[in-house]
Formats: sequence, structure tokens, C-alpha cells
Amino acid sequence: MTHRIGYIVGSISSTSINRRLASALVKLAPEGVELVEIPISGLGFYSPDHDAAYPPEAIAFKKAIDDVDGVLIVTPEYSRSIPGVLKNALDWAARPYGQGSFNGKPTAIIGGSGGGVGTAAAQQHLRAILGHYNAVTMGQPEGFIQITPGLIADDGTVTVPSTAEFLAGFLQAFDLMISRVEAARRHA
Ligand SMILES: Cc1cc2nc3c(=O)[nH]c(=O)nc-3n(C[C@H](O)[C@H](O)[C@H](O)COP(=O)(O)O)c2cc1C
Repeated sequence: MTHRIGYIVGSISSTSINRRLASALVKLAPEGVELVEIPISGLGFYSPDHDAAYPPEAIAFKKAIDDVDGVLIVTPEYSRSIPGVLKNALDWAARPYGQGSFNGKPTAIIGGSGGGVGTAAAQQHLRAILGHYNAVTMGQPEGFIQITPGLIADDGTVTVPSTAEFLAGFLQAFDLMISRVEAARRHA
């Protein structure tokens, strides 16, 4: 079975190391898994004023989430939480009330930073948000990736075999989790 996984990069930095991490994951996708980006940089600020008539870019964002089998969030940590641009995107996805895009959605989280423990705090905040959305969030493996210079080449190649193996295994685990969620739905 083929799964389409939509990935959201929680950084709009032109030099984002998390975008680099996402490019590595795209390259390492196992057979039967396709990774497609769900971009967030075109979204304006969310406000409930938009609930009555979402703008086209927000409609497209929610549809992109609907159209994939699972969502992978690749995010940096900002000030021990997630970046505002990611939270803003998630707020768009959560509304209008009762139409949350993450309800029942298989979701996984991974993040990269230059430091050793970076993104652990952000990921815990993100898990709380996704729990509120009733997303089905993968618990393990957790992915706190220390992105040292040269770890991921410009073309997305991971230069350290153990890291490449971990990232490929992370995607395999998410693919398996999506299959299990789908099987559970079929038998519900
Ligand atoms: C506003 C701001 C806050 C940050 N806060 C943290 C933090 O709390 N923990 C951390 O590990 N790194 C933090 N950093 C450093 C980021 O990990 C680093 O800038 C990283 O490259 C961001 O990811 P990106 O390149 O994908 O945008 C922060 C960076 C910025 C700009």
C-alpha cells in the first residue's frame, strides 16, 4: 500500500536546517511512501474573523492535510516552544470550530537543532497541541536530531550512516502506524 505523507516545515527561514532535514527525509522515504510538502509560508495571521469565509490559501492548506494519509511536522524549537509561524498554521488547521483538520489524523513529529537536546521542549508543546486536536500522534521513535555542519549535504544526502538509518527507521515506523490506524478504522 502506498501512503502519502504531507510534511510541514515549522520554519520559514531561508537557511532552515529543518528544511534541510525534511529534504533528507524525502530522500530516505521507504518504498511505498511518498512525501509531499504542505507549505505554510503563504498563510496570513489566523483570526476568528476568517471563520465565516476562510481565504483560499487557508482552504488549500486544510485540503492539503485532508488529502494525505499522515502529517509529519519537522520543526525547530523557538524559545523552548514551537515557532509562531507553525502555531499560526496549526490554528488555521484547527478551525472553523468542529472542522479541525487534525481530528483522527496520523501525525509524527521530528525536529533538528544545532544543539544536543534542541527541539525536545518544542516537541512536548506540540504533542499537547496535537492531543487537543485529537490527532493520532506517534509516540516512538522520538526524533531530536542534532544537525551538525555537513551532516546533511545540499542535495539532502545524510552523510552519517547511523543517522540515515535512524531517519529511515523513523519513516518506516510512521508508515506502519498509519497502516495500523487505517486497519483500526476499517474494523471500527
Ligand atoms: C527566536 C529563536 C529562538 C530560539 N530558541 C531556541 C530554543 O529554545 N532551543 C533551541 O534548541 N534552539 C533555539 N533557537 C536556535 C534554533 O535551533 C536555530 O536557529 C535553528 O537553526 C532553527 O531552525 P531552522 O534553521 O530550521 O529555522 C532559537 C532561534 C531563534 C531564531
